[in-house]
Amino acid sequence: MTRCWGPSLVFAGLLACGESGQPHATTAARPETKQGPTTSPSTQAPEVRSAVRCAECHEPYVRTWEASAHADAARSPYYQALGGGKDRRCAACHTPLRGALDGDDPIHDEGITCDACHGVTAVASTPRDPGLTFDLVSNRKYGPLCDSKDHYFHRVGCSQLFTESRFCGACHHLEWPARGGGAALPVITDFAEWSASDARGSTSCQECHMSGEPGEVARGWDPRDKVSRHDLLGDGRGLLGDAVDLEARAVTEGAERWIEVEVSNRGAPHSIPAGLAGRRLVLRAEFVDAKGDALPLREERVYARVLVDKVGAEVPFTRAVAVAEDSRLGPGERRVERFRVPDGASAAKLSVERLALAPTVAAALGVDAPVAESIAGADVALTSDDR
Ligand code: HEC
Ligand code: HEC
Ligand code: HEC
Ligand code: HEC
Ligand code: HEC
Repeated sequence: MTRCWGPSLVFAGLLACGESGQPHATTAARPETKQGPTTSPSTQAPEVRSAVRCAECHEPYVRTWEASAHADAARSPYYQALGGGKDRRCAACHTPLRGALDGDDPIHDEGITCDACHGVTAVASTPRDPGLTFDLVSNRKYGPLCDSKDHYFHRVGCSQLFTESRFCGACHHLEWPARGGGAALPVITDFAEWSASDARGSTSCQECHMSGEPGEVARGWDPRDKVSRHDLLGDGRGLLGDAVDLEARAVTEGAERWIEVEVSNRGAPHSIPAGLAGRRLVLRAEFVDAKGDALPLREERVYARVLVDKVGAEVPFTRAVAVAEDSRLGPGERRVERFRVPDGASAAKLSVERLALAPTVAAALGVDAPVAESIAGADVALTSDDR
């Protein structure tokens, strides 16, 4: 294998490093996949197309992908604030086609675009590098369909890899060296956790995150069983709401009154909040009086993997020296929390919100405060017995 640029992109048997250090095409692809007859691609340059082109025939895919985090992987303000755009180590996962594009090509902004996945022929990941091998020279789009036919716009290549979790796991697994030396810190562990769960034998990442409905895969072609959604969290990010079960009830012990809340990870075979360290779920208890006015007291519990710097302040993974806390809910895990009911309360409102990062981290980086996404809620009326 020839490593050309960045730590990650390997164009095995496809591209070799020229004297400039830039990749150029050499021989044809020999992916571990079945494919139709090839014409000789010989010395073609890598060719990457914008998602805009794909929309001509695959509009629903482009629409759902545009709503996904993958389409934002290069542009995300949080990513930019960490210097992602300038750091080759990050490009390996966030802009995997970087080395195949000219510096000013607008396709850079598409981040993990269609060709960044459908040009992949193999993965050989390490915890810091997805180890993607691409075929970008034979104009073949690889995917899960094995009875598709080549056509004038592109050829097709049947690849099992697209139905396997290890394809997602190539990027969804990240460990990062602690600043100043020391052991690597866990940053993204969804694939590792899924691998250790019962889902490994039954349910792939794709089955939950890329479900679909029958329809035309390409405009005007015979309908198939499934047009895979590419928005990752489903319509209206609905999958977020499948993760958490919330059950709340009032309990009285002598003169003490409590709300007892059971929070469980019902829907995910990895911890929740999933993904990047620093993401958080916030369980909040608020109380209202008989007139419906909020009482001043509100209490919170935060579920997160928190990375910190030398003085113990929460920081992004690139600046961390240690994991201070990991209170995420593991697969199937159930926690019971208690909140004391304040005097004068006639109802309790419980809610769970997802935040993409800690508000203090956002402020320190100068990016917008994270938008709270409501993912579960419950109301408990407090009868006079509880009061
Ligand atoms: C993160 C990687 C990734 C990106 C980005 C991506 N796809 Fe896919 N795509 C997949 C996977 C994985 C499957 C197979 C899903 C499954 O198991 O059913 C797939 C399936 C497909 C299929 C085959 C039919 C089907 O529904 O399963 C088509 C067509 C397709 N994608 C088009 C696109 C287009 C167009 C884009 C850009 C707008 C795109 N994809 C972006 C990973 C990706
Ligand atoms: C001119 C129409 C057209 C355009 C433009 C087009 N495709 Fe396709 N694509 C098709 C057709 C037709 C099929 C086969 C559909 C079928 O068999 O049901 C297909 C199939 C696919 C598959 C499935 C391959 C497999 O074996 O699983 C993928 C992936 C794919 N296209 C990706 C793309 C991407 C990425 C782009 C943009 C770079 C793109 N297509 C642009 C018409 C098009
Ligand atoms: C080339 C690397 C790469 C591959 C392959 C990949 N992802 Fe991602 N994924 C990313 C990056 C990077 C982000 C974060 C982008 C951002 O938020 O800016 C992400 C974000 C996500 C999110 C978060 C969505 C959200 O809105 O918060 C989900 C879910 C996800 N990916 C699922 C998948 C699944 C399922 C697969 C396999 C079919 C997959 N990914 C394959 C790199 C990848
Ligand atoms: C049984 C269904 C299921 C399977 C299988 C599954 N997930 Fe999830 N995933 C969920 C649910 C539910 C959520 C929403 C909870 C959350 O975001 O914390 C989620 C959330 C995520 C997120 C979003 C994190 C965020 O909030 O930004 C990522 C990333 C992710 N999963 C990656 C993966 C990967 C990678 C795999 C395969 C190794 C996988 N998931 C397998 C159900 C599943
Ligand atoms: C091995 C692959 C990989 C590498 C290398 C990588 N990331 Fe990521 N990154 C991901 C994945 C996957 C996600 C999505 C996880 C999730 O949804 O929570 C992500 C998400 C992020 C996010 C969250 C984006 C948002 O808008 O919420 C930031 C910020 C980020 N990465 C920064 C970086 C930086 C900076 C580097 C380089 C120092 C880097 N990453 C290197 C895979 C990687």
